[in-house]
Amino acid sequence: MSHLVAPSILSADFGNLQRDVEMVNASKAQWFHVDIMDGVFVPNISFGFPVLKAIQKHAKKPLDVHLMIVEPDKYITEFKNAGAHVLTVHYETCPHLHRTIQAIKAAGMKAGVALNPHTPVEVLNELLLDIDLVCLMSVNPGFGGQKFIENTYRKVTRLKEMITAHTANTLIEIDGGVDLNNYAKLIHTGANVLVAGNTVFSSANPTQTIEQLVIG
Ligand code: DX5
Ligand code: ZN
Repeated sequence: MSHLVAPSILSADFGNLQRDVEMVNASKAQWFHVDIMDGVFVPNISFGFPVLKAIQKHAKKPLDVHLMIVEPDKYITEFKNAGAHVLTVHYETCPHLHRTIQAIKAAGMKAGVALNPHTPVEVLNELLLDIDLVCLMSVNPGFGGQKFIENTYRKVTRLKEMITAHTANTLIEIDGGVDLNNYAKLIHTGANVLVAGNTVFSSANPTQTIEQLVIG
């Protein structure tokens, strides 16, 4: 399977949100990555439903919504109504992860689980067949534009082995510090979805940078 690219709206120009969403619509990117931060689980607050709905209004590609919030179960239906196609929760915020995943799927979305850099991929061994996407955080969540953590490659390799052993279809997503120097190695190692914020939106030609990441 060829990989997917999901530009992260966190790095967009919020004063020109429609323009940036339309840039992604017209580009070769397959998804939008949308980060929701609550200032509790992570030391930053991004935005909530009004902004997500504004993105939904203009986006013509699936919304990959990454929740960095405590108690995500409270808002599953609301995220579905706000247009989420994939809804990803953090392992570290879900004491009843199996229940949360079933609730996301019952609401009609793909279920994702994100792992912080220090969380081993093995914690998902019993649940892999139920999960549509595992998001490996390659930075500590909370901010765009951080440096990629090199240990991520080892986690991709181990997760890929687990997916093969289970004959699962789970996608491996990499989130944080993805750039034009590391994306090819990530794909080669087994990544299926590349999130890129700073690399896309800080580049001189975001459309062209997306194309580079897509073509691989
Ligand atoms: C970080 C977010 C990322 C962020 C990635 O907590 O989950 O999605 O937008 O941004 P870059 O690509 O700039 O590291
Ligand atoms: Zn993210």
